[in-house]
Amino acid sequence: MVNEQMRQNWTQGAAGWVENEQIFDFTYQPVTSAVVAAAALAPGQRVLDIGCGTGTLLLAAIDVGAVPVGVDISPVMVAAASARVPDATVGIADAQTDDLLAIAPGPTFDRVVSRYGVMFFDDPTAAFTNIRSACTPGARLSFACWRDVSENPTFTLGTTTLLDLMTDPPPTPGPRAPGPMAFAEPSYVHEFLGAAGWSDVDVAPLDFDCFYSEDGDGVEERLTIVLGLASGRVAAAQLRPRLGEEGWAALLDDLRAELRTHVVDGKACASGRVLAGHRSGMTVGYDAPTPLSTEPRSPMAGPSAG
Ligand SMILES: C[S@@+](CC[C@H](N)C(=O)[O-])C[C@H]1O[C@@H](n2cnc3c(N)ncnc32)[C@H](O)[C@@H]1O
Repeated sequence: MVNEQMRQNWTQGAAGWVENEQIFDFTYQPVTSAVVAAAALAPGQRVLDIGCGTGTLLLAAIDVGAVPVGVDISPVMVAAASARVPDATVGIADAQTDDLLAIAPGPTFDRVVSRYGVMFFDDPTAAFTNIRSACTPGARLSFACWRDVSENPTFTLGTTTLLDLMTDPPPTPGPRAPGPMAFAEPSYVHEFLGAAGWSDVDVAPLDFDCFYSEDGDGVEERLTIVLGLASGRVAAAQLRPRLGEEGWAALLDDLRAELRTHVVDGKACASGRVLAGHRSGMTVGYDAPTPLSTEPRSPMAGPSAG
Protein backbone atom coordinates (compact mmCIF):
# COMPACT_ATOMS: atom_id res chain seq x y z
CA MET A 1 0.00 0.00 0.00
CA VAL A 2 1.19 3.55 -0.81
CA ASN A 3 2.97 5.29 2.10
CA GLU A 4 2.48 2.18 4.24
CA GLN A 5 5.90 2.45 5.89
CA MET A 6 5.24 6.04 6.94
CA ARG A 7 1.75 5.18 8.13
CA GLN A 8 3.31 2.59 10.46
CA ASN A 9 6.22 4.85 11.51
CA TRP A 10 3.93 7.74 12.39
CA THR A 11 1.45 5.53 14.17
CA GLN A 12 4.09 3.81 16.30
CA GLY A 13 6.24 6.92 16.67
CA ALA A 14 3.58 9.55 17.32
CA ALA A 15 3.73 9.22 21.10
CA GLY A 16 7.14 10.93 21.33
CA TRP A 17 5.82 13.81 19.26
CA VAL A 18 2.55 14.10 21.23
CA GLU A 19 4.23 13.92 24.65
CA ASN A 20 6.76 16.57 23.70
CA GLU A 21 4.45 18.86 21.75
CA GLN A 22 5.23 21.83 24.03
CA ILE A 23 8.98 21.52 23.50
CA PHE A 24 8.54 21.22 19.74
CA ASP A 25 6.18 24.18 19.67
CA PHE A 26 8.65 26.34 21.56
CA THR A 27 11.65 25.18 19.50
CA TYR A 28 9.88 25.54 16.16
CA GLN A 29 8.00 28.73 16.95
CA PRO A 30 10.01 30.69 14.32
CA VAL A 31 9.01 28.07 11.75
CA THR A 32 5.35 28.26 12.69
CA SER A 33 5.46 32.04 12.28
CA ALA A 34 7.24 31.75 8.92
CA VAL A 35 4.64 29.35 7.52
CA VAL A 36 1.75 31.49 8.77
CA ALA A 37 3.34 34.62 7.28
CA ALA A 38 4.06 32.95 3.93
CA ALA A 39 0.46 31.71 3.79
CA ALA A 40 -0.93 35.19 4.46
CA LEU A 41 -3.77 33.65 6.44
CA ALA A 42 -6.87 35.81 6.76
CA PRO A 43 -10.25 35.55 8.46
CA GLY A 44 -12.77 33.29 6.76
CA GLN A 45 -10.27 31.39 4.62
CA ARG A 46 -10.63 27.63 4.49
CA VAL A 47 -7.19 26.30 5.46
CA LEU A 48 -5.97 22.74 4.99
CA ASP A 49 -3.07 21.61 7.23
CA ILE A 50 -1.25 18.59 5.80
CA GLY A 51 0.30 16.23 8.35
CA CYS A 52 -1.21 18.37 11.08
CA GLY A 53 0.31 16.37 13.93
CA THR A 54 -0.97 17.67 17.25
CA GLY A 55 -2.49 20.78 15.65
CA THR A 56 -0.14 23.74 16.12
CA LEU A 57 -1.00 25.28 12.74
CA LEU A 58 -4.70 24.59 13.29
CA LEU A 59 -4.50 26.77 16.41
CA ALA A 60 -2.61 29.44 14.47
CA ALA A 61 -5.32 29.45 11.79
CA ILE A 62 -8.07 29.81 14.40
CA ASP A 63 -6.13 32.70 15.95
CA VAL A 64 -6.47 34.69 12.73
CA GLY A 65 -10.14 33.79 12.23
CA ALA A 66 -9.56 31.22 9.47
CA VAL A 67 -11.42 27.89 9.27
CA PRO A 68 -8.90 25.05 9.66
CA VAL A 69 -9.10 21.45 8.52
CA GLY A 70 -6.30 19.11 9.54
CA VAL A 71 -5.41 15.78 7.96
CA ASP A 72 -2.86 13.29 9.14
CA ILE A 73 -2.01 9.71 8.28
CA SER A 74 -1.51 8.81 11.95
CA PRO A 75 -4.62 8.10 14.03
CA VAL A 76 -2.62 8.91 17.17
CA MET A 77 -1.83 12.40 15.86
CA VAL A 78 -5.42 12.95 14.75
CA ALA A 79 -6.71 12.01 18.21
CA ALA A 80 -4.24 14.44 19.80
CA ALA A 81 -5.11 17.29 17.42
CA SER A 82 -8.86 16.72 17.82
CA ALA A 83 -8.53 16.92 21.60
CA ARG A 84 -6.27 19.97 21.50
CA VAL A 85 -8.17 21.94 18.84
CA PRO A 86 -11.84 20.98 19.14
CA ASP A 87 -12.89 23.88 16.90
CA ALA A 88 -10.98 22.46 13.93
CA THR A 89 -12.11 19.61 11.70
CA VAL A 90 -9.48 16.88 11.83
CA GLY A 91 -9.40 13.55 10.05
CA ILE A 92 -7.26 10.56 9.23
CA ALA A 93 -6.16 10.74 5.62
CA ASP A 94 -3.23 10.02 3.37
CA ALA A 95 -2.72 13.37 1.65
CA GLN A 96 -1.28 11.60 -1.38
CA THR A 97 -4.26 9.40 -2.14
CA ASP A 98 -7.38 10.35 -0.21
CA ASP A 99 -10.03 12.86 -1.20
CA LEU A 100 -9.16 15.67 1.18
CA LEU A 101 -12.50 17.40 0.77
CA ALA A 102 -14.19 14.28 2.05
CA ILE A 103 -12.70 14.97 5.50
CA ALA A 104 -14.59 18.25 5.69
CA PRO A 105 -17.20 18.50 2.94
CA GLY A 106 -17.64 22.08 1.79
CA PRO A 107 -15.90 24.62 -0.42
CA THR A 108 -12.43 23.98 -1.80
CA PHE A 109 -9.44 25.21 0.22
CA ASP A 110 -8.04 28.74 -0.03
CA ARG A 111 -4.81 27.89 1.73
CA VAL A 112 -2.72 24.78 2.31
CA VAL A 113 -0.15 24.86 5.09
CA SER A 114 2.23 22.40 6.66
CA ARG A 115 4.99 22.45 9.22
CA TYR A 116 7.22 19.49 8.42
CA GLY A 117 4.27 17.32 7.37
CA VAL A 118 4.83 16.91 3.62
CA MET A 119 8.20 15.17 3.20
CA PHE A 120 6.96 11.63 3.72
CA PHE A 121 5.17 10.83 0.47
CA ASP A 122 6.19 7.90 -1.74
CA ASP A 123 5.28 10.08 -4.71
CA PRO A 124 5.40 13.86 -4.07
CA THR A 125 4.09 14.73 -7.54
CA ALA A 126 1.02 12.55 -7.00
CA ALA A 127 0.56 13.96 -3.51
CA PHE A 128 0.73 17.62 -4.52
CA THR A 129 -1.53 16.93 -7.51
CA ASN A 130 -4.06 15.38 -5.15
CA ILE A 131 -3.73 18.31 -2.73
CA ARG A 132 -4.20 20.78 -5.59
CA SER A 133 -7.40 19.03 -6.63
CA ALA A 134 -8.92 20.07 -3.29
CA CYS A 135 -7.97 23.73 -3.74
CA THR A 136 -9.64 26.84 -5.07
CA PRO A 137 -7.94 28.28 -8.19
CA GLY A 138 -5.46 30.85 -6.89
CA ALA A 139 -5.06 29.10 -3.53
CA ARG A 140 -1.66 29.31 -1.88
CA LEU A 141 0.45 26.47 -0.53
CA SER A 142 3.00 27.22 2.21
CA PHE A 143 5.08 24.61 3.94
CA ALA A 144 8.26 24.16 5.92
CA CYS A 145 10.66 21.34 5.20
CA TRP A 146 14.21 20.60 6.32
CA ARG A 147 17.40 21.34 4.48
CA ASP A 148 20.22 18.81 4.46
CA VAL A 149 21.16 17.07 7.69
CA SER A 150 24.66 18.58 7.45
CA GLU A 151 23.03 21.99 7.99
CA ASN A 152 20.87 20.75 10.84
CA PRO A 153 22.66 19.73 14.03
CA THR A 154 19.23 19.48 15.62
CA PHE A 155 19.11 16.06 13.95
CA THR A 156 22.48 14.95 15.27
CA LEU A 157 23.20 16.60 18.63
CA GLY A 158 23.14 13.78 21.19
CA THR A 159 21.57 11.39 18.68
CA THR A 160 24.86 10.59 16.94
CA THR A 161 26.42 9.56 20.25
CA LEU A 162 23.65 7.01 20.78
CA LEU A 163 23.70 5.71 17.22
CA ASP A 164 27.49 5.32 17.27
CA LEU A 165 27.17 2.91 20.19
CA MET A 166 24.68 0.68 18.38
CA THR A 167 25.85 -2.50 16.69
CA ASP A 168 22.92 -2.34 14.31
CA PRO A 169 22.04 1.34 13.71
CA PRO A 170 19.06 2.18 11.50
CA PRO A 171 20.04 2.83 7.86
CA THR A 172 20.40 6.43 6.69
CA PRO A 173 17.74 7.18 4.05
CA GLY A 174 19.06 8.14 0.62
CA PRO A 175 18.57 11.60 -0.88
CA ARG A 176 14.92 12.29 -1.77
CA ALA A 177 13.76 9.15 0.07
CA PRO A 178 10.58 9.80 2.07
CA GLY A 179 11.64 11.26 5.40
CA PRO A 180 12.49 14.59 7.05
CA MET A 181 15.22 15.53 4.55
CA ALA A 182 13.45 14.38 1.37
CA PHE A 183 12.97 17.96 0.12
CA ALA A 184 16.45 19.24 0.96
CA GLU A 185 17.17 20.13 -2.68
CA PRO A 186 15.25 23.25 -3.80
CA SER A 187 15.51 22.15 -7.45
CA TYR A 188 13.67 18.95 -6.56
CA VAL A 189 10.92 20.94 -4.81
CA HIS A 190 10.53 23.09 -7.94
CA GLU A 191 10.46 19.95 -10.07
CA PHE A 192 7.65 18.07 -8.33
CA LEU A 193 5.53 21.15 -7.52
CA GLY A 194 5.72 22.19 -11.17
CA ALA A 195 4.84 18.68 -12.31
CA ALA A 196 1.88 18.74 -9.91
CA GLY A 197 0.56 21.91 -11.51
CA TRP A 198 1.61 24.53 -8.92
CA SER A 199 2.97 27.79 -10.27
CA ASP A 200 5.11 30.71 -9.04
CA VAL A 201 7.04 28.43 -6.73
CA ASP A 202 9.37 30.26 -4.38
CA VAL A 203 11.69 28.28 -2.14
CA ALA A 204 13.42 30.43 0.47
CA PRO A 205 15.89 29.39 3.16
CA LEU A 206 15.04 30.19 6.74
CA ASP A 207 17.72 30.02 9.42
CA PHE A 208 16.63 29.99 13.01
CA ASP A 209 18.07 29.24 16.42
CA CYS A 210 17.01 25.85 17.72
CA PHE A 211 16.50 26.36 21.46
CA TYR A 212 14.70 23.80 23.62
CA SER A 213 13.63 25.80 26.63
CA GLU A 214 12.40 29.30 27.22
CA ASP A 215 13.54 29.68 30.81
CA GLY A 216 16.05 26.91 31.51
CA ASP A 217 19.24 25.67 29.87
CA GLY A 218 17.26 23.18 27.77
CA VAL A 219 19.53 20.21 28.52
CA GLU A 220 16.77 17.98 29.90
CA GLU A 221 14.38 19.07 27.15
CA ARG A 222 16.91 18.24 24.44
CA LEU A 223 17.61 14.88 26.07
CA THR A 224 13.86 14.20 26.15
CA ILE A 225 13.66 14.93 22.42
CA VAL A 226 16.69 12.76 21.63
CA LEU A 227 15.17 9.81 23.49
CA GLY A 228 11.62 10.43 22.28
CA LEU A 229 12.28 10.42 18.55
CA ALA A 230 12.41 7.22 16.50
CA SER A 231 16.23 6.97 16.48
CA GLY A 232 16.41 7.48 20.25
CA ARG A 233 13.77 4.87 20.94
CA VAL A 234 15.49 2.33 18.71
CA ALA A 235 18.84 3.11 20.37
CA ALA A 236 17.37 2.79 23.86
CA ALA A 237 15.73 -0.53 23.00
CA GLN A 238 19.11 -1.90 21.92
CA LEU A 239 21.50 -0.19 24.35
CA ARG A 240 19.61 -0.27 27.64
CA PRO A 241 19.49 -4.07 27.99
CA ARG A 242 23.11 -4.29 26.83
CA LEU A 243 24.43 -1.66 29.25
CA GLY A 244 22.18 -2.49 32.21
CA GLU A 245 20.43 0.18 34.27
CA GLU A 246 23.63 1.61 35.76
CA GLY A 247 25.40 1.75 32.42
CA TRP A 248 22.36 3.32 30.79
CA ALA A 249 22.15 5.98 33.53
CA ALA A 250 25.87 6.71 33.06
CA LEU A 251 25.36 7.07 29.31
CA LEU A 252 22.53 9.55 29.89
CA ASP A 253 24.85 11.56 32.15
CA ASP A 254 27.46 11.56 29.38
CA LEU A 255 24.80 12.82 26.99
CA ARG A 256 23.84 15.59 29.41
CA ALA A 257 27.51 16.60 29.62
CA GLU A 258 27.73 16.64 25.83
CA LEU A 259 24.59 18.79 25.60
CA ARG A 260 25.97 21.20 28.21
CA THR A 261 28.88 21.95 25.87
CA HIS A 262 26.27 23.38 23.48
CA VAL A 263 24.74 25.75 26.00
CA VAL A 264 25.24 29.32 24.90
CA ASP A 265 24.18 32.63 26.34
CA GLY A 266 20.74 33.42 25.07
CA LYS A 267 19.51 36.94 24.83
CA ALA A 268 16.22 36.04 26.43
CA CYS A 269 17.66 33.68 28.98
CA ALA A 270 20.36 34.53 31.47
CA SER A 271 21.25 30.91 32.11
CA GLY A 272 21.87 30.16 28.45
CA ARG A 273 20.25 27.47 26.38
CA VAL A 274 21.20 24.46 24.34
CA LEU A 275 21.69 25.62 20.83
CA ALA A 276 21.43 22.91 18.21
CA GLY A 277 21.98 24.48 14.88
CA HIS A 278 22.53 28.17 14.93
CA ARG A 279 22.14 27.96 11.16
CA SER A 280 19.61 25.19 11.36
CA GLY A 281 17.03 25.72 8.72
CA MET A 282 14.48 24.64 6.26
CA THR A 283 12.85 25.87 3.16
CA VAL A 284 9.43 27.38 2.89
CA GLY A 285 7.90 26.75 -0.47
CA TYR A 286 4.85 28.82 -1.19
CA ASP A 287 2.87 29.05 -4.22
CA ALA A 288 -0.38 29.52 -6.05
CA PRO A 289 -1.81 26.75 -8.20
CA THR A 290 -2.74 27.23 -11.77
CA PRO A 291 -6.49 27.21 -12.36
CA LEU A 292 -7.87 23.74 -12.02
CA SER A 293 -8.75 21.86 -15.12
CA THR A 294 -12.39 21.33 -15.86
CA GLU A 295 -11.99 17.59 -15.45
CA PRO A 296 -13.91 16.16 -12.52
CA ARG A 297 -11.93 15.37 -9.43
CA SER A 298 -10.83 11.80 -8.91
CA PRO A 299 -13.45 9.54 -7.36
CA MET A 300 -14.00 9.99 -3.65
CA ALA A 301 -11.59 7.82 -1.73
CA GLY A 302 -12.95 8.71 1.68
CA PRO A 303 -10.92 9.09 4.85
CA SER A 304 -8.48 6.31 5.52
CA ALA A 305 -9.09 4.09 8.48
CA GLY A 306 -5.37 4.44 9.24
C1 LIG B 1 7.23 15.80 11.60
S1 LIG B 1 5.55 15.52 11.93
C2 LIG B 1 4.93 17.18 11.93
C3 LIG B 1 3.62 17.30 12.67
C4 LIG B 1 3.08 18.73 12.74
N1 LIG B 1 2.85 19.30 11.43
C5 LIG B 1 3.97 19.60 13.57
O1 LIG B 1 4.70 20.42 13.02
O2 LIG B 1 3.94 19.47 14.80
C6 LIG B 1 4.99 14.88 10.34
C7 LIG B 1 3.52 14.56 10.29
O3 LIG B 1 3.15 14.21 8.95
C8 LIG B 1 2.22 13.14 9.01
N2 LIG B 1 2.22 12.44 7.71
C9 LIG B 1 3.21 11.67 7.18
N3 LIG B 1 2.85 11.18 5.99
C10 LIG B 1 1.60 11.64 5.73
C11 LIG B 1 0.67 11.47 4.65
N4 LIG B 1 0.96 10.72 3.58
N5 LIG B 1 -0.54 12.09 4.73
C12 LIG B 1 -0.87 12.83 5.82
N6 LIG B 1 -0.03 13.02 6.87
C13 LIG B 1 1.19 12.45 6.83
C14 LIG B 1 2.72 12.32 10.17
O4 LIG B 1 1.76 11.41 10.67
C15 LIG B 1 3.12 13.39 11.17
O5 LIG B 1 2.06 13.77 12.01
